[in-house]
Amino acid sequence: MSIKILAINGSPRGRTSNTDKILQPFLVGATEAGAVTETVYAIDLDIHDCTGCFSCWKKTPGKCIFNDDMPALLEKIRNVDVIVWATPLYYYGMTARLQRVMERTLPLVMPYIVKKGEHFGHPLRYQNYSQKTVLISNCGFIERYYFEALLKQFSILDRQERSLDNTILCTAGEMLAVPEAEQQISWYLDAAYEAGKEFITAGKISTQTAATLSKDFVTLETFVAMANASWNAPGETPLTLDEAMGRESLYTTSDTKHCEPLIPTAQMTTIRDVIAGMPLAFQPQAAGNLKATIAFYVTDTADEKYFLKIEDGQCSAFAGVAASEPDITIHTPAQVWMDLSCGKTDGQQAFMEGQYRVEGNIQILMMFNKLFKSADTMMISQPTGKKKR
Ligand SMILES: Cc1cc2nc3c(=O)[nH]c(=O)nc-3n(C[C@H](O)[C@H](O)[C@H](O)COP(=O)(O)O)c2cc1C
Repeated sequence: MSIKILAINGSPRGRTSNTDKILQPFLVGATEAGAVTETVYAIDLDIHDCTGCFSCWKKTPGKCIFNDDMPALLEKIRNVDVIVWATPLYYYGMTARLQRVMERTLPLVMPYIVKKGEHFGHPLRYQNYSQKTVLISNCGFIERYYFEALLKQFSILDRQERSLDNTILCTAGEMLAVPEAEQQISWYLDAAYEAGKEFITAGKISTQTAATLSKDFVTLETFVAMANASWNAPGETPLTLDEAMGRESLYTTSDTKHCEPLIPTAQMTTIRDVIAGMPLAFQPQAAGNLKATIAFYVTDTADEKYFLKIEDGQCSAFAGVAASEPDITIHTPAQVWMDLSCGKTDGQQAFMEGQYRVEGNIQILMMFNKLFKSADTMMISQPTGKKKR
């Protein structure tokens, strides 16, 4: 018999939410592995607040006084093998909407207090202890630390009832809503799809897929610069990066100290734009544990110098010269690099013809096709075919 999954998406943005952008590939992967899935959007439901009357425990056991959309949802919850709780992070927890749904699951437990392992809790009314739980969340900030309260809530629930089997927690989730970044961050959604497949075929998300799903889209500096530049409120002056980061902690490595992080832009009209966009096109899985500094010296302008730092599965772009010796330096006229970045010319051919030259570890240049995913706008190679989601 097929495994049945019910996903409850608590984002007020419903079907257009960042949460759904991660949830749906997960469910497609699960469906392709043989599961039957359904998504319920909390925003579509008429669900009253729990009023704490305890009627569902005392007067009408298992039945709430409110005859809204919750009884039908409880029926669904009772009859599936897996529940996916999906929510954006709102004030470090789940949305009020999803919390309201969760509170109204009170009829599914009995009032008695019993010892369950180390702690006490309520017994399940319908004894479906084998039901599994998955948590999918995304947050606006880039630090994973913000998920701690949500995870704690689920881990306590888990000890009480069933196990929180897998989590997908995505930072800088608003990047999922940026059309220009769609191609570049599709690796994340591919991993969510794999996670869905693995969850059904192997009973859990593999360590490798989980590791991919806990990678950030960009580095902290790039994120702060991009995020602050994206808010354009009338009458407010955006913070400088120095102000936002705090002087002391500005740039974490001595290598990049005093160098200006490049902020990706929507247009690709200069070589600076192209290099600024490369961290978005970066494929962390392809990089593995590569640690490299890649310098660009633009030969037709006197002092245009940029570099990329690749480390810990992340890539950042800077203007200027890195303090340490680059692993590879690419000397190129601006137009040559822009043409081959957008696929107008073939990178290898341009190299053979001497249109640009490199110093240092040429192996890194050879890896570019894999390290940087090509949007039409970006790198040397074409994308390698898209997974069905
Ligand atoms: C009211 C509100 C509270 C939020 N609280 C947090 C928060 O505590 N931490 C965080 O990193 N992001 C927070 N965010 C940002 C959202 O998590 C982020 O925008 C997310 O991508 C929205 O996902 P969605 O499209 O699935 O709703 C908050 C957003 C709103 C509107």
